[in-house]
Amino acid sequence: MRVLIAGAHGQVGHELLRFAPDGCEVVALGSAELDITNAQQVAKVVERLRPQLIINAAAYTAVDKAESEPERAWAVNRDGIAHLAQTAERLGIPIFHISTDYVFAGDASEPYRETDPTGPTGVYGASKLGGELELVANCSEHIILRTSWVFGAHGNNFVKTMLRLGREREELGVVADQRGCPTSAASIARALWALAVQYREHGSLQWGLYHFSGTPACTWHEFALEIFRQAHALSLLERVPLVRAICTADYPTPATRPAWSVLDCAKLRETLGIAQADWREELAQVLRELA
Ligand SMILES: NC(=O)c1ccc[n+]([C@@H]2O[C@H](COP(=O)([O-])OP(=O)(O)OC[C@H]3O[C@@H](n4cnc5c(N)ncnc54)[C@H](OP(=O)(O)O)[C@@H]3O)[C@@H](O)[C@H]2O)c1
Repeated sequence: MRVLIAGAHGQVGHELLRFAPDGCEVVALGSAELDITNAQQVAKVVERLRPQLIINAAAYTAVDKAESEPERAWAVNRDGIAHLAQTAERLGIPIFHISTDYVFAGDASEPYRETDPTGPTGVYGASKLGGELELVANCSEHIILRTSWVFGAHGNNFVKTMLRLGREREELGVVADQRGCPTSAASIARALWALAVQYREHGSLQWGLYHFSGTPACTWHEFALEIFRQAHALSLLERVPLVRAICTADYPTPATRPAWSVLDCAKLRETLGIAQADWREELAQVLRELA
């Protein structure tokens, strides 16, 4: 099965290449080879390659910057998905796409289900929701995997920021009133490939929208404490810094963050047999890679 990966040089794209199963011919393209904002290029590249499946890991992911350059965020996260979806539908190719917990308002107290109303509070979340809607409207065979708090050894993420700050500072403040689910890029890649293998074996899937994140839920503060604990045990850090619990209001950012980002992942488990990974074990793997 030939699989085209768009956005192949990002965190998830990188892990998709690492975990590609036997028997899949992977064509991995970065934005230089396939710019999803360019409708003509999307049509031309997909027509030439004729993949049996497209996995889209391309996105505009700069949450704060999106507030000051919304046109770019919408161009990639909504229009880019529309281009992929229209071409894929015309050629009969399914798309696996990744979306985000930021489509929700973040004011819930129970884990979000796929059927819960959305209500993004910033440009990034709104543009990602726009992409979901384009995919649903234009490509009948699609999987949308909403995920959250992505980390890995490759690319920029909270784990790598904490390791840097932990080396530079003796003390730091980390937000303790936002709750979510850290998710390793590797676990997302493995989930997507498991779905790809199911599709290859059965020629179809239960298409639709699914939530997928790591478990258990925690705050950024708890996540930071675990990063420092494990990094110190692996000698990645000489000493564990003092981590103060602070409030969102103490750490103002251009884009508001959801206070509650916990995703209910039961549908994916019950429908397609994909279980959540424990992010603490995934973190250990990432730290070993970094060591
Ligand atoms: N990171 C998180 O915490 C998080 C949380 C929830 C959901 N997600 C979702 O998970 C998915 C993967 O995220 P990630 O963390 O792997 O993102 P990432 O590391 O920022 O990678 C995104 C990739 O998209 C590429 N890209 C940007 N504009 C493009 C364009 N016009 N055409 C083609 N490629 C383009 C980028 O390439 P260039 O650098 O060359 O532009 C980059 O390699 C995204 O859909 C994201 O919204 C992420």
